[in-house]
Amino acid sequence: MSKPTIFRKPQGPIVVRGEINLTDPEGNSIGHGPRFSLCGCGLSKNMPFCDGAHKEK
Ligand code: FES
Repeated sequence: MSKPTIFRKPQGPIVVRGEINLTDPEGNSIGHGPRFSLCGCGLSKNMPFCDGAHKEK
């Protein structure tokens, strides 16, 4: 298995690829696929994931 990769797009989303354990602040796992985007703009209504709301800025 290759190492996970994480990068931020200029518009805000933080793209994550690979096997990681995404958790909430209490340490509870949050399900996700092999590639997903975290919200980096603060506008998503589906935190911690990007829902495309950054495009409306
Ligand atoms: S980065 Fe996409 S909704 Fe925040």
